[in-house]
Amino acid sequence: MAIREIKILGDPVLREPAVEVAEVDEGVRALVEDMLETMYHAEGIGLAAPQVGISSRVIVVDLRDSDEEDMGPLALINPRVVESGKKKDKAPEGCLSIPGMEEIVERPDTVTIEGLDPDGDPVSMEVSGLLSRALQHEIDHLDGVLFIDRLSPLKRRMALKKWQKSRAEEVAS
Ligand code: NI
Repeated sequence: MAIREIKILGDPVLREPAVEVAEVDEGVRALVEDMLETMYHAEGIGLAAPQVGISSRVIVVDLRDSDEEDMGPLALINPRVVESGKKKDKAPEGCLSIPGMEEIVERPDTVTIEGLDPDGDPVSMEVSGLLSRALQHEIDHLDGVLFIDRLSPLKRRMALKKWQKSRAEEVAS
């Protein structure tokens, strides 16, 4: 296992649609282990492979520190949202690739997600609340979509301006 470098907003890999995994093999399982270690080290609750520079449809989520029930780490290969509920939910989101930014994002509260587990077996789950939000956020990454894309154009501009300013100050200090 190894901690990998997390790519930051501005890196083109974050904007590329990731490639479908053809076969869930040892290489994919090793990537999952590295992603989990990287996510825990960065104290995040989710990570997608493009965030460590791998344009592959693999995500991990672990809500361990939240109030939600602790279900342990979840890794999904080729995950996709197959159904979205009508009810929307608004809550703050952040992203390890945009450190320091947190904004309110609206998403469907309940979604049904299908994919493969690290053994290559099919998985289907209906999720809501924070788990749903985290999984939708990570699946977005696989399409090159970041949570800032889900803000209104005005909110996005303001949030990016503030973020760029704080990044510049960090580099200068
Ligand atoms: Ni993210």
